[in-house]
Amino acid sequence: MKHREVPFHRPNLGPQEEAAVAQVMTSGWLTSGPRVAAFEEACSTYLGSRFTLSVSSCTDGLELALLSLGVGPGDEVITTPLTFVATLASIWRVGAEVKLVDVDPVNGNLDAQGIEAAITSKTKAIMPVHLAGCPAPMKAIKAIADAHGLLLIDDGAHAFETVSDAGKVGAVGDGSAFSFYATKNLTTGEGGLLTLANEEVYERAKRLRLHGIDKDAWQREDGQGFRFYDVPEIGLKANMSDIAAAIGLEQLKRLDSMTKRRQEISKRYDEAFAEIPTIDTPQIPLEGFHARHVYALELTGASSLTQDFLVDALFARGVGTSVHFKPVHLLLGPQKKLKLGSGAFPVAEHYWRTHVSLPIYPAMSDSDVDYVIASVQETCR
Ligand SMILES: Cc1ncc(COP(=O)(O)O)c(C=O)c1O
Repeated sequence: MKHREVPFHRPNLGPQEEAAVAQVMTSGWLTSGPRVAAFEEACSTYLGSRFTLSVSSCTDGLELALLSLGVGPGDEVITTPLTFVATLASIWRVGAEVKLVDVDPVNGNLDAQGIEAAITSKTKAIMPVHLAGCPAPMKAIKAIADAHGLLLIDDGAHAFETVSDAGKVGAVGDGSAFSFYATKNLTTGEGGLLTLANEEVYERAKRLRLHGIDKDAWQREDGQGFRFYDVPEIGLKANMSDIAAAIGLEQLKRLDSMTKRRQEISKRYDEAFAEIPTIDTPQIPLEGFHARHVYALELTGASSLTQDFLVDALFARGVGTSVHFKPVHLLLGPQKKLKLGSGAFPVAEHYWRTHVSLPIYPAMSDSDVDYVIASVQETCR
């Protein structure tokens, strides 16, 4: 097998995005303006969301959702340890407490059964994450949230195309945040999106997105200038630029074909690895749609094959991998805040140690995919 380099990720950007950015650069308007408005409308149509705000990142989107829905000091938010630190950071940033619940061993998503037991008089919200683009069990989680009068705010960083058993992510709960970070299924370089179900909450989030100012920069250019704005409450600086939105608009036009390519690559991996006893392929829920943001192989324990061995062997062959995720309660800073250590969430910890994420992105050629398959087969057999 001839050596080649297949990095863990390469963005899928082309002349369309270049031209769109060039147009913004010469338009005289760089920050949030007409492209942002058009991008928000297009995302809202795609997701079926009621109220939609572009933001500077998913992390800011989650924080804005919590703030505008009134979550703060004295409140607890239930979420998963098997996520990126940003999920928990958004909760701490509004002054609320994190309450972790262990995950489903099959897909690493928040286990709905565990949520009920974690609810206390302080619980204000549940924040599921659709890990890898696999839908969390939203029907069951929403039923729990409704029964206990809790807010449902989901972290859809991996899940722009995901459909859950309760409907499209972004149109189910009180708020959903998405990431358009460089490696995501749809990228704006850096960026994100927040969808909200309630109009008043949306108006508040819109103000809080830009310092709490009651008019955005585009409105301030409406001939009235800066004379008439006020700041009813202090907010974040989390708006998206027209440059980013212009990239997003072009990415949206190609989203269906990019989604299709991810499904094709997943299918090729599923078929190629089906008969190898040392590894299992991801299980897909019967209901809904998996966005295939991450394709993680599971080590079955049928041999002495370890995560470190597989990562190193693939690296030596030029294939980039990743791990989603080291559970957050095992990271230094969060560990100090949570006062929890190894063993606190055994399912999440086992999941972390037994999964390796392979390259999966539309910019992969068929021969890139062949090469990853051959490298995995060679290492795992
Ligand atoms: C599960 C999860 N949540 C939140 C984020 C944060 O996204 P962003 O970088 O857009 O803030 C990430 C980023 O990768 C993520 O993986």
